[in-house]
Formats: sequence, structure tokens, C-alpha cells
Amino acid sequence: EKNGYDHFMLKEIFEQPHGLKKTMTGRLNEETKLVEFEELNWTKEQMNNWDKISIVACGTAYHAGLIGKHVIEELTRIPVEVEVASEFRYRNPIINERTLVIVVSQSGETADTLAALRQSQHMGANVLAITNVVGSSIAREADEVILTMAGPEIAVASTKAYTTQVLSFYLLGIYLSQSKDRLSEDYKDQLIEGIAAIPEQIEEILEHSKGIRWYAESIKDASSVFFLGRGVDHAVSLEGSLKLKEISYIHSEAYPAGELKHGTLALIEEGTPIVSLMTQESVSEKMLGNIKEVKARGAQVLGIAIEGDMKIWDYVDETCFIPNTLSILTPLLTVIPLQLIAYYTSLALGNDVDKPRNLAKSVTVE
Ligand code: F6R
Repeated sequence: EKNGYDHFMLKEIFEQPHGLKKTMTGRLNEETKLVEFEELNWTKEQMNNWDKISIVACGTAYHAGLIGKHVIEELTRIPVEVEVASEFRYRNPIINERTLVIVVSQSGETADTLAALRQSQHMGANVLAITNVVGSSIAREADEVILTMAGPEIAVASTKAYTTQVLSFYLLGIYLSQSKDRLSEDYKDQLIEGIAAIPEQIEEILEHSKGIRWYAESIKDASSVFFLGRGVDHAVSLEGSLKLKEISYIHSEAYPAGELKHGTLALIEEGTPIVSLMTQESVSEKMLGNIKEVKARGAQVLGIAIEGDMKIWDYVDETCFIPNTLSILTPLLTVIPLQLIAYYTSLALGNDVDKPRNLAKSVTVE
């Protein structure tokens, strides 16, 4: 059932191109350059009435939501907040008929997320679920459902659920923008083509993953690993950091690079491994400045950047290049090396990759 792979996690990492293709099938129309969701029953009036979107989820699904915020705000200009379900449900959130609540859950059974869904409906919001399991509690109770087509996810550490959730946010962002007619044809075409190309680009990264394995083995004895990035690079770093903690048991933190000076820089010392995401053109000079700061304290830096970005060579110790895509789409590519770093580090340490200590696949208790 592992199909020749040593672990479910590795199998699921390699299944991502397929899961993504299935998730876009019937939704991303490359001919008309439109996104279609036959399963969604919203009217145009309803969609144009929302003045806020609240994304609620736990763990990795929450991290997918953080990308969702960037995407939806950029494409629709509707304000989006993202919150972990166990906080949202206990704090009297501001939700009403003009709010669209999006709950994200691979299993569709997470207790806090389900409670947040019920509370939001009670407060008059329309609730959309992005979930991987047909017939799950969350799928049954939500007003609308987008199914991710990742297929069953067995490894406790979520991988293919995350990328299909993130993809769903791109599709949803475009779909909502269509009802407002606010993107230029040209940009929309680029987005659609960019998304369609992602599965092959992931294949490419997976084919060249040897360097990542070598890097993972080099950090296995570290006491702390830091992830730095800005914008969507930061959002995806949070997921990379969680993945590493979860299965390698190495302490790690993801910091918005601009926050370094406000405290974290004190933790950087000779040899501290830093994974630095540097795909966002608009802040690339700022990132290079941050890298100089940590290098000056002796950090060992892996830079993850877009292929052809030669200027980073002079700044970092190791590089990992991802294929070229639009700035907003990079998370679907950058997360792949981050997943592989977590996997190979855990493997090098001899941990139980698929069943990390203290964790369960589905958290149905509070
Ligand atoms: C991390 C992980 C967890 C889940 C979280 C939510 O790899 O798997 O953080 O993402 O427990 O689970 P779902 O998505 O089933 O609600």
C-alpha cells in the first residue's frame, strides 16, 4: 500500500502533482481561462455582499489559510482574517450575515473546527468548507463544500492535503474575482496558465531532490532551525517549520524576516541553520539585507529562490532553486523542499516518520 515508498509521507509528497491535477480538473478551464465551481450555489449578489472573509482551521490547514488570506485579498480586495479554530470559538468573533466563513480541514472531523463552523452558522454567516473527506461531519454541516482531491492521507504529517488546500484558495480567489470582474484579462490568463503548470514544476523539484536530502542530513544534530521569509514566503515557512518540529523533534521557528531585529537575532550563533525563502521579487533586496545580518553572526544559510536568481549565490551557503512562476504562486513550489527537509531529517534521526510521538492524525477531542 506504500507503493514501493519507505513511508506514507514520502509517497504522499510524491502524489502531490497528481492530487493537484485532480483538484483542478473541471474547475480550471484553460480554454475559457475561467474558474468554474459547479458545486457552489452562491448567487452573484450573495458574493458581492460579503464585506469580510474569516478563515478558520487548525495546524497545517491553518497554514493553508494564511496563504488563502494573501491570495483572496490580492485577487478580490475583500479583507480576510485567519484564525486557529481553538481561539476563534472561545472569543466572541465578529461574524454576521455579511461574513463568509471558510473552514479548512483535511479530515473534516477536527473538533474545534467543527465547533467554529457551528458557531459561525449560528451567527448568520455562510460557511464554506474546504475538506478532503466526503461525508465527514464538516462536509455534511457546511453550507458549501469544495472537496480537495488529494486522496486518503495516512501519514500524520500533512503534505498533499496542504497543497490541495492552497490550490483551492487560488481557485476560489479567482472565482470570487470573476464575480467582481476586477482582474485584468492578462493577469488572469497568467494566473490560470501558472496554476496549470504547477504539477509539472513540482515533478521537476522532486526529480532533483538529492541536494535537499544532503542538506537535511547536515542539520539533524542542530538544536534549533530558523525559517525566514517575507509575505507568502513567511506564510509557507510556518508550515515548513511545523513539519520539521512534528517529525524531527528539532526546535524550529519561522520568523517574518523583518522581525529578526526585534528579538530573534539574539538566538543566532555560529552554525545556526537558517532556511531562507527568497522568492518574492518585491522584497528581495530586503531579504538579502536580512541574510547579511544572520551571516554576520555565523549562521549557515540555505537559500530557496527562483531559478536564474544568481545574485543570491554571494549571500548564502547552499541554494535550492524552484522553477519560475508568478510571485503569488510560489508557495505550491517552495513547500516541496520544506516537506522534504522535514522528511529526510526525521529519517536521518531514525524517527517514526509516519507516526510521530504524541500526535494523532485526526484530533476529534478538544
Ligand atoms: C500537521 C497536521 C495537523 C493537522 C491539524 C488539522 O502535519 O497534520 O496540524 O493539519 O490537526 O487537521 P484537519 O485538517 O484534519 O482538520
